[in-house]
Amino acid sequence: SKGTYEFYMLKEICEQPGVLRHLEQFYLDQNGEPQIKAKIIDMLAAADRLYIFAAGTSYHAGLVGKVLFEKFAGVPTEVGFASEAGYHFPMMSKHPLFIFLSQSGETADSRVVLQEAIKRNIPSLTLTNVPNSTLAREATASLSLEAGPEIAVASTKAYTAQIALEAILAKALGEKIGNENARAFDLKTAFALAAEGAEQVISSKEKIEQLAQKFLLPSRNAFYIGRGIDYPLALEAALKLKEVSYIQTEGFAAAELKHGTISLIEKGTPVIALINDPLTADLMRGNIQEVIARGASVITIASKKLAVDDDDIVLPEINYYLTPLVSVVVAQLFAYYASKDKGLDVDKPRNLAKSVTVE
Ligand code: F6R
Repeated sequence: SKGTYEFYMLKEICEQPGVLRHLEQFYLDQNGEPQIKAKIIDMLAAADRLYIFAAGTSYHAGLVGKVLFEKFAGVPTEVGFASEAGYHFPMMSKHPLFIFLSQSGETADSRVVLQEAIKRNIPSLTLTNVPNSTLAREATASLSLEAGPEIAVASTKAYTAQIALEAILAKALGEKIGNENARAFDLKTAFALAAEGAEQVISSKEKIEQLAQKFLLPSRNAFYIGRGIDYPLALEAALKLKEVSYIQTEGFAAAELKHGTISLIEKGTPVIALINDPLTADLMRGNIQEVIARGASVITIASKKLAVDDDDIVLPEINYYLTPLVSVVVAQLFAYYASKDKGLDVDKPRNLAKSVTVE
């Protein structure tokens, strides 16, 4: 039940710190070492390349997964829309492993790719929130996202669980194949800080609602921009906002805007800028100036170390690679309040169903 929450979406956003703590307990031991079945780690370790297939929000979690697997396991990773791969199968390495990310485990587009993988004897691993779902049963192996039932159509806690589980798998795989970054990746601390960070964001939800009312509600369109790991986050943030508020929103790699799309910036166009990447933080500030010069109303979200005085939302410091776990909560709350304060049915946006079982 929704309990005291007006909508499931807000309930599920607020459950995320708990989901992170549960995943830490469920998949890590006392020393923070991943506890994943040897059979699964051996299967991952035998692959020369990982291919992640998913749709929508789960695809966006896959884009973050690519960064995690390449950084902490050193294994080249590709991410594709299941709907495209099903009929235009990508060129494969010698020893591919397919990872399916799916909250529901029933997405038809992903099932088509899995069937093709089975035909070609390609091993597969499904990460899903529904352990007895089709994608879980038909893949070589599966792992549970442990996020608890997700009722709102817009996916929130399944996304954070997918990223958390990808981080655990990246560390487990990296350690198995002797990657130095994997050993040094202190997941236990990082998860604790991410859970606290998500909690802090949730406790600042009134401020996020005010920003949504001032900048998003009056607008028909909006942009999220980011670089590095903030780019896939910008894609997810944009999907969430447009999906539930009907404000047309695009997520952009910040520097790409000036290669064409900046022509859409007008006086008052909301641009939400994500600044978590230390390598590109200064460049982000430059990209922000570019849109301000064209009249954009900019909202900045920055991690503490990279923040400047007038940033709108300052996020507590956590491992760069897990910053999506905290920043996404801000984006989810922007989407939630933009929808709710427009009087929309937050949990059931028009034209959508929770699980997409047609191709
Ligand atoms: C967006 C959303 C969808 C799903 C997509 C995949 O909020 O919920 O984009 O992420 O339909 O669904 P699953 O993860 O069930 O395969």
